[in-house]
Amino acid sequence: MKIGILTGGGDCPGLNAVIRAAVRKGTFHYEDQFIGFLEGWRGLMENKTMPLDLQAVAGILPRGGTILRTSRTNPAKKPDGLDTCIATLKKNGADALIAIGGDDTLSVATKLFDKGVRVVGVPKTIDNDLAGTDFTFGFDTAVNVVTEAIDRVHTTAEAHNRVMVVEVMGRDAGWIAIYSGIAGGADVILIPEQPFDVDTVAAKIRRRHERGRYFSIVVVAEGAKFAAGKNGPVLQGGEKDEFGHARLGGIANTLAQELERRTGFETRTVVLGHIQRGGSPTAFDRVLATRYGLGAVDMVHRGEFGKMAALRANKIISIPLAEATAKNRTVDQEMMNAAFGILEDEEKEAVAG
Ligand code: F6P
Repeated sequence: MKIGILTGGGDCPGLNAVIRAAVRKGTFHYEDQFIGFLEGWRGLMENKTMPLDLQAVAGILPRGGTILRTSRTNPAKKPDGLDTCIATLKKNGADALIAIGGDDTLSVATKLFDKGVRVVGVPKTIDNDLAGTDFTFGFDTAVNVVTEAIDRVHTTAEAHNRVMVVEVMGRDAGWIAIYSGIAGGADVILIPEQPFDVDTVAAKIRRRHERGRYFSIVVVAEGAKFAAGKNGPVLQGGEKDEFGHARLGGIANTLAQELERRTGFETRTVVLGHIQRGGSPTAFDRVLATRYGLGAVDMVHRGEFGKMAALRANKIISIPLAEATAKNRTVDQEMMNAAFGILEDEEKEAVAG
């Protein structure tokens, strides 16, 4: 069988591990051939390809980024875009397609499946917000990067009696913020799921300092929202991408100014940005990505099209693409309880906002 592979949306540590596993399993076990479509759906729109054989995937397991490169191109936005993708698959003799991406990329895969394309999906995003799977690869790496950053920020905050606000990725879901906040011992964790009251956060920080703690660490997801005003998340400006997403960023600065004004404590910000997405995947992500790649090739050969490989209770299973893309998976109550559980009673309302 000839199988096409593409990586779409924001990059993510572990993409290369998925590609490598799929190519190796397909080559060794099924005598498949592979073709790489470059730069996400743009590769199918513009017929940009590369050969994908054992040599092409040698040595890529620990490498961040993606050898296929990526983009946020949305064929569904272009006249005849989906048909162009189908024609490109035909032209290249691809019998099936593995699309590795988040909800945007996989929503296009769903549309192509509805038009008869034999496509399977692999869930990717550092944000960990895809429905139907316990974890997406890349998330663990991002959490480790942020946790190390929080540890470093801790020592300098302590040395200077400062409040430090650490801004992390997480457009609709606060998974990175809540995991790294717990792992790094943050004093306040602010997530998109729960708009927060800045006065309550400031009061908590003041109380900490009154009790002799002379520094505080606040972790805030880029998509977190101030309760007052109901203006939505803080935007960087610029154009929306082809899937209609505005560019988020800047909440740490806004929040730091508000906290400094209310508490009088010196406040600094750290915006981790794309550092969370770059570099080598953790061992956990390499293993998870490898299992997804193997699972995707098996799904192709079992004819499980229109489905996505997913992790449930540490088993790789397949679920309908439509289920994975129907809604974002936001931080659940159990994780929020875990963040609450380590706080003193009087501190709890600050996290709840
Ligand atoms: O991959 C998802 C994400 O990490 C979001 O958290 C973030 O808003 C977005 O990517 C930023 O991506 P880019 O700057 O590449 O458009």
